[in-house]
Amino acid sequence: MNEKRSSVHGEWSSGLIFILAATGSAVGLGNLWRFPYLVGENGGSAFVILYLACILLVGLPIIIGEVTIGRKGRRSPINSLRLIAREEGLNQKWALVGWMGVIAGFLILSFYSVVGGWSLYYGYEALIGGFAGMTSDSAEGMFNGLVSSPSAVLGWHTLFMLIVFGIVASGVKKGLQRAVTLLMPLLFLLLVGLVIYGMTTEGFSDAMTFLATPDFGALDGDTVLAALGQAFFTLSLGMGAIMVYGAYLPQENSIPVSTGWIVGMDTLTALLAGFAIFPIVFTVGLEPGEGPGLVFQTLPIVFGEITFGALLGVVFFVLLSVAAITSGMSLLEPAVAYLSESFGGGRVKAAAIISALIWLLGAACGLSMNAWSGFHLLPGMTIFNTIEFISSNILLPLGGLFVALFVGWKMRTTTVAAELDTHNHHNLFLLWLWVTRIVAPAAVLFIFLNATGLLSF
Ligand code: PHE
Ligand code: NA
Repeated sequence: MNEKRSSVHGEWSSGLIFILAATGSAVGLGNLWRFPYLVGENGGSAFVILYLACILLVGLPIIIGEVTIGRKGRRSPINSLRLIAREEGLNQKWALVGWMGVIAGFLILSFYSVVGGWSLYYGYEALIGGFAGMTSDSAEGMFNGLVSSPSAVLGWHTLFMLIVFGIVASGVKKGLQRAVTLLMPLLFLLLVGLVIYGMTTEGFSDAMTFLATPDFGALDGDTVLAALGQAFFTLSLGMGAIMVYGAYLPQENSIPVSTGWIVGMDTLTALLAGFAIFPIVFTVGLEPGEGPGLVFQTLPIVFGEITFGALLGVVFFVLLSVAAITSGMSLLEPAVAYLSESFGGGRVKAAAIISALIWLLGAACGLSMNAWSGFHLLPGMTIFNTIEFISSNILLPLGGLFVALFVGWKMRTTTVAAELDTHNHHNLFLLWLWVTRIVAPAAVLFIFLNATGLLSF
């Protein structure tokens, strides 16, 4: 029963390739677009600390659990969960957790593609010299000009979705993985450069105050929920993306070590993005709570000003787009793997059907910022806001909760320990097990209850 399976979809050629692919999934718009704007909207430092606590106490144990399920099952999340449930004598309904993930991936990719389209557009603007002499007013004008134009938003969203579809369908992942190996360190270097630049600006000390003096009194249930949702979103957790990548992880590679790298690099990237963006926010007198436009209304000002800024701007937004594309691929993969396993119609057909549906929903997200902005799905929330809220703050933590319960309480401890290969680290295994059993699920439940106002702490 503990025999090792191999994946029908092929496997990564090494554990390092898994780390690169999974980091490609993790590092994306979540770090450079979503993290800074949430920090700004939620008052800064206290949010950052909560987010880091969620990463450590909830994200880290659950990402280990997800990869464990994936590698044990070696299939799409739906079929891995079903197979393991059968082998472990559990209820087949656990496969529903995989279905919930597919739905969450659907919803996330729809608005993710819209924002991915924004970053493609900014790469284009940089290329034609559009950032030259940019002020905070013209930066705001550029962003508003983009999001208020249905044709621009739809066009760039379509381009983004086509690229993601093309890569997932044609299986050129290998080449892409190799490219990412080169591009990710470059993105990293550029971010470090921007952080150093930020230190020389007059807004730097205000930014430090904002990012480093927590005011926990100002936190409310929604803020805590947003920090939890962002921890899941940024680690690609709770919807099967990391699980399906884990399904292709070679047997001899260590799950705790690989996931440790992924979490570390993702967290570092988000923090660097914050330290790069907020000095500019305060220097140019922008509101931290500007919302989803924050990164797009700050960095172009810098690129319009510094030496080689035109070139660096192109490089930065191309890299941001690449990071978004590698994340978008992983959002599509659980559904594509499932469709091609179940109906055997091939990856291309599976990817085409799913991409078309996601494109449609994404079009609605894009239009909800202009033509349809008066239409509210939840009170005061556009279609875009509603989908972002439900998928990130509810579906992902819920998916993660079920993953924790499944590996922690339902699978046999011997099966889990064998997959994690922890003979020499028995105490660490026990620590992980109990955090996964108790701490992570309790945190998710408390935060949910707290946000509904049923319980406050
Ligand atoms: N983690 C990605 C990012 O931070 C987004 C993502 C979420 C990807 C969920 C896959 C699954 O940009
Ligand atoms: Na991320």
